[in-house]
Amino acid sequence: MCGIVGYTGINNVGGILLKGLKRLEYRGYDSAGVAIVENNGIYVQKTKGRIRELDEDDFPNGNVGIGHTRWATHGKPSDENAHPFSDCTGEFAVVHNGIIDNFVTLKEELIKKGHEFTSETDSEVIAHLIEENYQGDLVETLKNIVGMLRGSYAICAVQKDSNRIVIARDQSPLVIGVGVDENLIASDVPAVLDYTNEVKYLEDGDVAEISSNGVHIWDSLGNAVERETVEIDWNLEDAEKGGYEHYMLKEIYEQPKAIHDSLLGRLVEFNDVDFKQYDTRFIRIISCGTSYHAALVGKYIIEEIAKIPCTAELASEYRYSSPSEYLPFTILISQSGETADTIAAAKEAKQRGCKTMAITNVMNSSITREVDEVIYTQAGPEIGVAATKTFTTQLIVLYLIAMELGLNNNKLLRENAQDYRDELRRLPRHVKVLLDQSEDIRKVCEKLVDADDIFFVGRNINYPVALEGALKLKEIAYIHSAGYPAGELKHGPFALLTENTPVVAILVKDHTFEKMLGNIGEIAARSSPIIAVGDHDKELKKLSDKLITIPSVPPMFSPILVNVVLQLLAYYTAYELDCAIDKPRNLAKSVTVE
Ligand code: AGP
Repeated sequence: MCGIVGYTGINNVGGILLKGLKRLEYRGYDSAGVAIVENNGIYVQKTKGRIRELDEDDFPNGNVGIGHTRWATHGKPSDENAHPFSDCTGEFAVVHNGIIDNFVTLKEELIKKGHEFTSETDSEVIAHLIEENYQGDLVETLKNIVGMLRGSYAICAVQKDSNRIVIARDQSPLVIGVGVDENLIASDVPAVLDYTNEVKYLEDGDVAEISSNGVHIWDSLGNAVERETVEIDWNLEDAEKGGYEHYMLKEIYEQPKAIHDSLLGRLVEFNDVDFKQYDTRFIRIISCGTSYHAALVGKYIIEEIAKIPCTAELASEYRYSSPSEYLPFTILISQSGETADTIAAAKEAKQRGCKTMAITNVMNSSITREVDEVIYTQAGPEIGVAATKTFTTQLIVLYLIAMELGLNNNKLLRENAQDYRDELRRLPRHVKVLLDQSEDIRKVCEKLVDADDIFFVGRNINYPVALEGALKLKEIAYIHSAGYPAGELKHGPFALLTENTPVVAILVKDHTFEKMLGNIGEIAARSSPIIAVGDHDKELKKLSDKLITIPSVPPMFSPILVNVVLQLLAYYTAYELDCAIDKPRNLAKSVTVE
């Protein structure tokens, strides 16, 4: 979703802004622009389309500037709707991420006062509000106008003849990169890492002023505050492609390491959270997209290992549901920690009186400030829009949590816990075995590339994996696909099965295996091509057009392995179809608006 960069320092700013914007490309965007403070004015260039369409040769020299990549919400992608926006006098330029819910009212009032607007966006009102309310100090002006805004924002503003950038945030990410003789701002850490690995994370309601040699921050009450400077312990290489053609493929291949890192220091003793201090007799997991699928798998894991009733809910639904008298221990899962719906759900759960815990991959991300406890997944930066290694590590954390809860309530015997630990330790090796077979898996894509509709089916703990496989294929290969619990096909979707409707079926040797075989037989009778993923079985081999086997693990751990196969199927299908794998159309890495 939209990206912001800003720089103030001793160097020429134009190239720095473009480099920073490119580092944020993974977030998804449809237009780009920069504003550079030059002698006696502010130069603005903006365009619909890619960053490379900005003409750097035309940039003036300057040491202060802001840049933006836009992901359209209000108003279609166009040159006019691209950021930055200036006020009527051209004294200020502004970029904004988020959504201003009350912009229509604000705009009407500003128009009545004589302001002329050039775009259809909500963001432009901020530039005009600054002009309207400016009384000699941009910091005071911004402090004043953020009180008029309803919605979410990360705002950066520059002013003619000034080396300061003034910023504010509420529910949209913004970090300050702290350098020597230079300071930066960005929506995400990779955009500042070329210059510094020291960052400050702003909190909701903060306003800050950044110049080449200073950072001053005020909280929502207007009090001057210090925000901790955090050292980032990963470098740009970690976030770059490292020889792979796409980030997604690199991230799929990083899974053995990601699993290993997520288990590190947690297997023998799990000290991240002391669950004994909470009432965990009932658990609710809330999240969106792929993280929601991890939540659904988590429900099966927690119910099986710890025998604790658990529900998985979509954040966008939970936040508008009716509160009940139950106050479940509430787990929020978000790779980015910036998903607006999940953050809102965390606030809602807290408001209802629940104890909350986040599972996230991003240190100090917004969600970490909304919850009682945090567990980090340790997957390393994930740049591809399609979530891969973070899903896997979310599951790893859920296994660890379930084991801890099961040991605490005596539903998990110590010797069984030891068996589970051994299984978890072996998972990186099993994933590696599958990755080594990727060429064979790739060949199977021939059966998928020409399809208009594909079904993914599974049962029990692998039902959510079917949902995830279908999501991945839709997202990056643009093929309509639907995940179903296999037992449900006959209640309607059977009508769609033809020889042109491939079915990817997950069958592992658990208590549902025989039922699944029955389902596969019914599908074969409708002539649909069947691609089976799971355990080796003679009968299954006969019934399916292709069987991709996974290393043998107890069924409870099969989702991780089956999912790696489905990731590769989606990746290679999208590759054959020449799709924009890392930046699928219309999508953003983190969805910071509702
Ligand atoms: C997954 O491939 C998607 N890009 C998307 O569904 C994502 O998982 C969802 O937007 C939630 O993101 P989060 O985990 O960062 O909260």
